[in-house]
Amino acid sequence: MKTSQETTGRNSTTISGFILLGFSDIPSLQYLFFSVFLVTYIVTLAGNLLIIVLTLAEPTLHTPMYFFLRNLSFLEKCYTSVNVPKMLRNLLSGDKTISFIGCAMETYFTFFLGGSECFLLASMAYDRYVAICKPLHYPVVMNRKVSTGLAAGSWLSGLLMSFGHTSTVFILPFCRSHEINHFFCDIPLLLKLACGDTFRNDMAVFIMVFFFAIFPFMLILMSYVCIISTILRLPSRVGRRKSFSTSSSHLMVVTLFYGSACIMYLKSNSSYSPDTDKFLSLFYTVITPMLNPIIYSLRNKEVKGTFWRMVSRRRFC
Ligand SMILES: *[C@@H]1O[C@H](CO)[C@@H](O)[C@H](O)[C@H]1NC(C)=O
Repeated sequence: MKTSQETTGRNSTTISGFILLGFSDIPSLQYLFFSVFLVTYIVTLAGNLLIIVLTLAEPTLHTPMYFFLRNLSFLEKCYTSVNVPKMLRNLLSGDKTISFIGCAMETYFTFFLGGSECFLLASMAYDRYVAICKPLHYPVVMNRKVSTGLAAGSWLSGLLMSFGHTSTVFILPFCRSHEINHFFCDIPLLLKLACGDTFRNDMAVFIMVFFFAIFPFMLILMSYVCIISTILRLPSRVGRRKSFSTSSSHLMVVTLFYGSACIMYLKSNSSYSPDTDKFLSLFYTVITPMLNPIIYSLRNKEVKGTFWRMVSRRRFC
């Protein structure tokens, strides 16, 4: 064991970076992918920016729910900006290399923001749970201090988890091929390239997925069970249908995000297929950040009203 570690350690010093193969196995679709991802990226940035501006500008939207939404939009903007610009560059240029440090930074920020997003989504579900299921306690339970504390806690836990997790991966020796069959640096793929003993890292992935994906997802699910059962008891049929449709679309986006991430990180090595991995990870890197603002707010009457009021005020001024 020791000698193999030593020899691999020597070899690894010759490798200064990685090659992200991306979608280069299907060259005919490069331009199609480029256009789709570019449009998605622009829509994501614009949609999330719009939410930040609207929730800041409108005093009636200064509530915990919109505070969380603004925070989520800010996070999503950062999250897509970690991977998508590099992905777009890779699709167009022949140069698909990424430096060792670049790859480490990309992994660090992907896990930092992804982990924070998991907890932020759980905080948002908790906020809705208190608002709908315990409406009398809402002003006391969800005060300013609690909501900023939950958001800050989400960011901080993602930051710390990612630091620990990424640093234990990047101290491993990388001596096999340095080609990554993916469009960004991701821990499961890096672990396949490492030659040291990765058992501890595999365990860490498992534990991390439990704390950052399964545990918050269970909390979200429990909140929504209560929210939906409260909604079903509402006397008005129209109100019931409306609340039900927004809650179910939230739940759908959340399930898509957690589902794709869990499948990606919990799959056993035997079922490893790089193409499935690439398409699965598109869900949480490209699709959810775009859908989140649309579903959380553009279907929301208050946000839409604010938007049209701002647009018409501009026009008449
Ligand atoms: C998100 O929440 C954190 C912690 O409460 C806060 O410091 C930050 O300003 C918030 N960001 C936005 C864009 O609201």
